[in-house]
Amino acid sequence: MAAKIILLPGDGIGPEIIAPALELLAAVGTSFDYEEHAFGGAAIDAHGTALSDETLAACKAADAVLLAAVGGPRWDTTDPSKPRPEQGLLGLRKGLGLYANLRPVRPLPALYDASPLKREVIEGTDLLVVRELTGGIYFGEKTRSADAASDLCAYSREEITRIARVAFRAARRKVTSVDKANVIETSRLWREVVRELHAAEFASVELEHVLVDNAAMRLVSNPASFDVIVTENMFGDILSDEAATLTGSIGLLPSASLGDPGQPGVFEPVHGSAPDIAGTGTANPIAMFLSAAMMLRHALGLDGEAAAIESAVDRALAAGLRTRDLGGSTSTREATQAVLSNL
Ligand code: NAD
Ligand code: IPM
Ligand code: MN
Repeated sequence: MAAKIILLPGDGIGPEIIAPALELLAAVGTSFDYEEHAFGGAAIDAHGTALSDETLAACKAADAVLLAAVGGPRWDTTDPSKPRPEQGLLGLRKGLGLYANLRPVRPLPALYDASPLKREVIEGTDLLVVRELTGGIYFGEKTRSADAASDLCAYSREEITRIARVAFRAARRKVTSVDKANVIETSRLWREVVRELHAAEFASVELEHVLVDNAAMRLVSNPASFDVIVTENMFGDILSDEAATLTGSIGLLPSASLGDPGQPGVFEPVHGSAPDIAGTGTANPIAMFLSAAMMLRHALGLDGEAAAIESAVDRALAAGLRTRDLGGSTSTREATQAVLSNL
């Protein structure tokens, strides 16, 4: 039986980049049982909620979820009683137990000059951000009155241990655990638990602890000094967008959101719905393509097909594919053709 994949195009450029990804998946010879659901703002318009019970149930029963992006000015509100597209994303991650978000950052030599950073700074960078995805300030209790608001940041020993284990297993030479242990209590527990796990199970992997403000600086001054960065939810969100500048554009960064074995993963670009360019046909589809490749590898065991997509992307970029975010004028359609013709 063909694997069941739930498609969540979402909003903004989402539908414009997911359709080319399906073309590419077909071109590498895969054939899946796809089922598309409205998600995010589109689902608010259709059902009054960003993630319907039916969509969550379908995702739980699937082999994998391929998601583009959600959100947009149409649904932006500061009123806590109004639904927001982003609640769909958070509900999906929590509902599927996807605590581990893998965000690889591997700048290509062909694109060194597309980054605002100097070539000498970027050279040799090949890092992985392992972002905790179902805890921290994103999911703690929130309060709001007319004149005050609060967000609780909470982590348990178990939540920290399981994400640190993912990071140590992914490391080739070193794990950098990023926290704010000089100020924040959850960070002090984080540091202690990471240190204990390292001593007990991963003593052969180098471990360093770096404060988040310093880590933010090092990401753009000495990024090649990182191998695996493991960090809590919000720090990981911020640092991964920062790391995107190393590759030339956030339009290139894929991610995989994974839970315990047996849970379907969600595969999604790091970027958002890019409302500023939606509808112009200029979105960079590569982060979506590479997210599809991560799905093939992590969820479906199709390593060869995943590698075929990745190398076609590399070759198309080396041959000059430059969408507008990379300083060029290649359209979404032309970028798709370029990758297809390099398969
Ligand atoms: P964004 O990532 O959507 O866009 C930031 C900048 O990068 C914009 O200038 C945009 O044009 C550009 N960009 C992003 N992806 C691109 C691509 N594939 N090709 C070319 N350019 C690209 O972030 P934002 O503007 O802060 O947020 C817009 C909306 O997206 C918000 O509603 C936000 O909540 C949402 N968002 C969703 C996700 C997600 O669905 N996973 C992630 C981040 C933001
Ligand atoms: C991301 C996004 C989301 C996050 C938002 C849209 C909820 O920025 O996937 O990086 O903060 O996790
Ligand atoms: Mn983000």
